[in-house]
Amino acid sequence: MPDQGKQVVQYGDVTQRVGVEVISARGVDVPKLIKMLVANAAAEFASTYYYYTILRMHLAGHEDYKEICEDARLEDRAHWELIVPRIYELGGELPNDLKEFHDLAGCAAAKLPNPPTAVNILTLLLESERCAIRSWIAICDITFGKDPRTYDMASRILNEEIEHEAWFIELLAHERDGKSIPSGHFRRGEPGHAPYSKNAAFYNP
Ligand SMILES: [Fe+2]
Ligand SMILES: [Fe+2]
Repeated sequence: MPDQGKQVVQYGDVTQRVGVEVISARGVDVPKLIKMLVANAAAEFASTYYYYTILRMHLAGHEDYKEICEDARLEDRAHWELIVPRIYELGGELPNDLKEFHDLAGCAAAKLPNPPTAVNILTLLLESERCAIRSWIAICDITFGKDPRTYDMASRILNEEIEHEAWFIELLAHERDGKSIPSGHFRRGEPGHAPYSKNAAFYNP
């Protein structure tokens, strides 16, 4: 039986949400969670633009690197689309102003490095994935055992960010140091497959 004393949302009230009431009752700081999710959404949005569009365009002659970047870019776009509905379910919203949204990003925007060598580009991509891992595990930390829906989404995204870090470690070690540090990467079914965040089957023909 639910604890009637803790119920705050009144019958027929559309201005409040039981989905928020129940996670607040379990100790989630919902305004803080919304802020963190908006910052992470902004970072995913910006990363699709800067990291994997602008940077990828400067990897001519490295078609294999471009393919990996394309997977990472499309999976970041999937992360953005996965998490935005959650912001609204929690009563939050995206900023109406794109510049304001961009500036809220939890990870610094990466401009094209000078010179735009493959090593410099791969280094930026690697560090972008590392920032994403730190940002998503912070969401896992504050929702674990309290907000299963946000936790499930964040942990799916985290799975892919950890894979992305391994991909870029492999590529950067090869390109910069001539070293082999395998990521254990199997090819995705199609570009942007996002097996965890889209709940898709792994490639298995
Ligand atoms: Fe991402
Ligand atoms: Fe990523």
